[in-house]
Amino acid sequence: MDRNELNQYKKTFSGFSKLEFSERLERLGALGVLNKEDKSFLQQNCQMDLTLAEKFVENVLGYFQMPFGVATNFVVDGKPYVIPMAVEETSIIAAASKTAKWVRDKGQITTHISGREIIGQIQIAIVKDYTALKKIINENKQKLIAMANENVANGLVRRGGGVNNIEVRAIERDDGQFMAVIHVHMDACDAMGANIINQVCEFLKKPIQEMSGEHVTMCILSNLVDTKVTHAKVEISGVDSDLAHKIAEASLFAKLDPYRAATNNKGVLNGIDPILIATGNDWRAVEAGIHAYVSRDGQYRSVTEWKVDGDKLVGTFQAPLIVGIVGGVTKLHPMAQMSLRMMRVESAEELSKVCAAVGLVQNLGALKALTTVGIIEGHMKLHIKNLTLGAGATEQEAPVLQKKLEEVLKTTKRVSMSNATELLDEMRNGVNQ
Ligand code: MEV
Repeated sequence: MDRNELNQYKKTFSGFSKLEFSERLERLGALGVLNKEDKSFLQQNCQMDLTLAEKFVENVLGYFQMPFGVATNFVVDGKPYVIPMAVEETSIIAAASKTAKWVRDKGQITTHISGREIIGQIQIAIVKDYTALKKIINENKQKLIAMANENVANGLVRRGGGVNNIEVRAIERDDGQFMAVIHVHMDACDAMGANIINQVCEFLKKPIQEMSGEHVTMCILSNLVDTKVTHAKVEISGVDSDLAHKIAEASLFAKLDPYRAATNNKGVLNGIDPILIATGNDWRAVEAGIHAYVSRDGQYRSVTEWKVDGDKLVGTFQAPLIVGIVGGVTKLHPMAQMSLRMMRVESAEELSKVCAAVGLVQNLGALKALTTVGIIEGHMKLHIKNLTLGAGATEQEAPVLQKKLEEVLKTTKRVSMSNATELLDEMRNGVNQ
């Protein structure tokens, strides 16, 4: 990244959260992140055509809107990013942006992907002769691959991808008999690949049955894509040694204890899911893949790890994170298209790496808060705004109620909806008297 680009990026986001809505749009427009159409779409509250929803799902009644914002200050592999996030949880965007600033100023984020293939599964529930099946599949592997590429994955082959391997596994059943599972490996290029890998597996069902005499029971992709793993690494220098060690201890807690690992990973997904939603990706698939991958040694563990390395704090993320930038909702949904444009990602792999980086940074923000001021301070301060709304405060009452709730939080270290309703009641009775 050249210095000018970074300076322009920094300037765009300086004081960004304090700006009016229209000023935010102007700044993002000036940076080239939003075009004229994007701005008018956002100004019209992202109004969308119902006929589009009818294309996606059945029994349509309308759209469900979520807050849509941007996390700032992310520089991943030297490239500055604007991170679109569709999310309802208070403080996620603020925490991501704040932590990303810390990382940008004192360290770096690097990423890579190991492996390229997604996996499809073909099940033979009770295999008659596993050894014979394995032999036949291995002998005909190239033929099956060529058939699948010619008949189903030809578009991917043209883009440099396609089916490139087939493997056979045996699984012992509860009743002592054996099940055979055939894994089809396919490079899906910039697509998430779910539809195409499912089609490939269903296409291969017939030739496999014919050549083996076995009966195929079902075909479906696997979300446990341990053949394509996304890695992100955060390194920060000059971190207070006490803080760095506390973060490393928090990380060890999440590595060793599945109860903590679940919450740690939820915090990582706080960073990832909102990008997946904003870009029209299947967040359930990514979540399932991450949870399965972190359980690969038999215990559910954290997807991130933080260690002190000399004077550096070093964090890593490693898991499958399969996304697409073409096809399906990513192509048709105007907000998904806008989000992908805003991120300036050129490939599915780039999007995957940025998601991993944001998840890791989000995790760092959570661990820093948890090991210092605690979760309440950062979380609840912002949550107070929601409490004022939930209690039914009017526009005039809201700022007064907010101040009162902040006082309650300061003195008692906790604040709840009942505080909000009681205080609002008091305010109103006071006014009425
Ligand atoms: C809350 O949405 C996420 C955290 O619980 C994550 C964590 O505990 O690491 C704060």
